[in-house]
Amino acid sequence: MTTRRTIAPEELDTLNLADPRLHAESDLSAVWHHLREHQPVHRNPATDSAPGFWVVTRHADVTSVYRDNTVFTSEGGNVLETLLAGGDSAAGRMLAITDGDRHRQLRRILLSAFSPRALEPIVASVRRTVERLLREAIEKGSCDFAADVAAGIPLGAICDLLGVPDRDRAYVLSLTSSALGSHEADSTAADAWIAKNEILLYFADLARDRRDSGHADVIALLAGSQVNGLPLDDDEIMLNCYSLILGGDETARLSMVGAALALLEHPDQWQALKRGDAAIDTAVEEILRWTTPALHSGRTATTDTEVGGHLVRAGEIVTIWNASANQDERIFDAPGELRLNRTPNKHVTFAYGPHFCLGAYLARAEIGAVLAGLRDLVAQMEQTGPAKPVYSNFLSGLSTLPLALKAA
Ligand code: HEM
Repeated sequence: MTTRRTIAPEELDTLNLADPRLHAESDLSAVWHHLREHQPVHRNPATDSAPGFWVVTRHADVTSVYRDNTVFTSEGGNVLETLLAGGDSAAGRMLAITDGDRHRQLRRILLSAFSPRALEPIVASVRRTVERLLREAIEKGSCDFAADVAAGIPLGAICDLLGVPDRDRAYVLSLTSSALGSHEADSTAADAWIAKNEILLYFADLARDRRDSGHADVIALLAGSQVNGLPLDDDEIMLNCYSLILGGDETARLSMVGAALALLEHPDQWQALKRGDAAIDTAVEEILRWTTPALHSGRTATTDTEVGGHLVRAGEIVTIWNASANQDERIFDAPGELRLNRTPNKHVTFAYGPHFCLGAYLARAEIGAVLAGLRDLVAQMEQTGPAKPVYSNFLSGLSTLPLALKAA
């Protein structure tokens, strides 16, 4: 179905884990297994253009780094791309790359928009969208599950949250695809940079329009809130809108496409879902573990410290690999098997601790809607063409998955 070269542990010394091609084109599970067993805290060497960084692979070490945002700060960046470039200019202003009291206050403001009660109308609309998109795909006979089904779901929900007008949604989607992951092997950092700046400009305009507008969306919520007794400025509003769209669009999309692929590749699990032997909520957790759309998170050590018995010096970059922790045999029984009724399922797909994903409830509802839609509306799925991976050292999954869906 998808052909990826398996990398053997012996090749470890030749690998650069910051290389997007490596993650897109190869299967690293043997390397992760080797690292967890023999070098749970590994050093990815410096290159001519970028510093070296620590690679943390065991579940216990990953959660202990996530838990402590005093010793391991996100303010130097929280993904390799920005950490290796020397930092992120939005640090201290955008939720995911802010720590301390300011993070707690900003998070409290945003949490009110992400409670199950607040999300009720958005989740209802997600379910309607999933049903419509699946019925359209079934009617057409064949579809690209990524572009024709998955792409319309999370972005629609975030645009609802932010109050983005319908006419702008296709434009925002095209920008988010090139800003974070990449659908082409040869697209450059400059393309991503341009897309990011266009998103920022778009939200700066929207934030200006929304001040005192009486709207009831997240932009208006941010515009009406205070941190440390001061209102958020336009830049802070714009950056936090940007972080919702980049954090919640492609990640969720990739897990939905990954869900379809996983069901295709595991007919027994597809049948279990269809028979009702696997409950949707439990299956969602396994799909999240199985797909792990955010491969890693990154931190900077603020003081000399230890991770898994290794000395890490102040100022060094520490990357924690969800992709490896979610396969850790110390936590998961037969981690290499897809088991839709797996419980417990302590995956770290949404991170852990103070930066735990703000959109986890929404993402779970979206993936659940897709699984329920496939179960109820689709009798049979067949892959009709080659799948294509996204090229990223942060995001993992497919940008294209041609499928034929037959009605139930
Ligand atoms: C944080 C993954 C969906 C918004 C995070 C983090 C991860 C993550 C790993 C922690 C980053 C870090 O510690 O540096 C995912 C995955 C998703 C998903 C895999 C889908 C399957 C969403 C959605 C939204 C969202 C739907 C919003 C609409 C955020 C925000 C943060 C965050 C705002 C920062 C929280 C904080 O720093 O306090 N997400 N996410 N995510 N996510 Fe998600």
